[in-house]
Amino acid sequence: MDAMPTVELVRDALSKVIDPEIRRPITEIGMVRSIDVDDAGVATVGIDLTTQGCPMKERITGDVTDAAAKVAGVTDVKIELGVMSEEQRLELRSKLRGGKPEPVIQFTQPGNMTRVYAIASGKGGVGKSTVTANLAAAMAKDGLKVGVLDADIFGFSIPGMLGVTGQPTRLDDMLLPPIAHEVKAVSIGMFVPAGQPVVWRGPMLHRAIEQFLADVYWGDLDVLLLDLPPGTGDIAISVAQLLPHAELVVVTTPQSAAAGVAERAGSIATQTSQNVVGVVENMAWLEQADGSRLHVFGEGGGQVVADRLTKTLGTSVPVLGQVPLDITAREAGDAGTPVVISDPASPAAEALTAVARSLASRQRGLAGRSLGVTPIKR
Ligand SMILES: Nc1ncnc2c1ncn2[C@@H]1O[C@H](COP(=O)(O)OP(=O)(O)O)[C@@H](O)[C@H]1O
Ligand SMILES: [Mg+2]
Repeated sequence: MDAMPTVELVRDALSKVIDPEIRRPITEIGMVRSIDVDDAGVATVGIDLTTQGCPMKERITGDVTDAAAKVAGVTDVKIELGVMSEEQRLELRSKLRGGKPEPVIQFTQPGNMTRVYAIASGKGGVGKSTVTANLAAAMAKDGLKVGVLDADIFGFSIPGMLGVTGQPTRLDDMLLPPIAHEVKAVSIGMFVPAGQPVVWRGPMLHRAIEQFLADVYWGDLDVLLLDLPPGTGDIAISVAQLLPHAELVVVTTPQSAAAGVAERAGSIATQTSQNVVGVVENMAWLEQADGSRLHVFGEGGGQVVADRLTKTLGTSVPVLGQVPLDITAREAGDAGTPVVISDPASPAAEALTAVARSLASRQRGLAGRSLGVTPIKR
């Protein structure tokens, strides 16, 4: 005769069910209200969803049913869905914030190990968002926990490039970000009706970035990438104030390098004491059928920007990679699947993956960062 399934065995099985948005076991976040097993082996599981209209309702029900049904001796699974009370949600939010009752920017808390990279450019259209989306997807593919904050409020394009259609789920004042290609992403584009422009000024922009940092449940990230707007405006300054340890990655094309606009985005670092990690030269060339390279926008621009920034900032700023023009990269971006996922063997994907790995393997440390102290002269 089969062993009788017990409540403990079912609970154990449910501890393997991960909430798709919060990415923690449902047993840990107070979603499992009750478990009963009767003599006939029927398991009845009470599940409290975070919100009434939880978009993950079906997925959670399915995952719980599958997990409980696998327990030896369970003959049937019944799910009784409920919704968390206000008190339960308060407790959950506080738990997700690591015991802090109020929203905080976790990335600036002592002991936080998330590496924060802000992707900057002197002007638009150089491929900043393409680089951001691909770096994120490549890092996530390598198993890192990655978040993307689309800080390009007026020209947001991260939802489209990552193929995110949904909105963050609201847990009262906390936002659970949508996840696409295993990347958590938040963008103003998830909140404004399609086709409607964002007409905000400085203080509102600052508040929006602050909310995206503090009110979004990012979880335990290895890397946070910010897609900055082009140039050195209010938002770049807000980001520097809110995340002083964010390090800059400057994206340029050979052409905008020649025009001198790229290093402006990097030289803002002198005012903000941010570190510039390096330069990505995008649209570097177009490979011809015979294997030769056509330098559509000129040649060597990434190196020129890196050299100038090295001189201005007084720390070594390397070229992190050269990404060729690649039709598959553009198509992939339009389709919402970054090229590092859709066509990883393409030349652009290989270059972007290499940049992602070099950024991921950097230690978050003090190297190259201004310590704000004057060294003692000997
Ligand atoms: N390496 C590349 N090869 C082909 N198309 C690219 C490449 N990088 C970017 N693009 C395309 O160029 C356009 C501008 O890129 P985008 O990432 O939106 O720039 P930005 O964010 O700097 O304004 C997009 O249509 C994008 O798909
Ligand atoms: Mg962009």
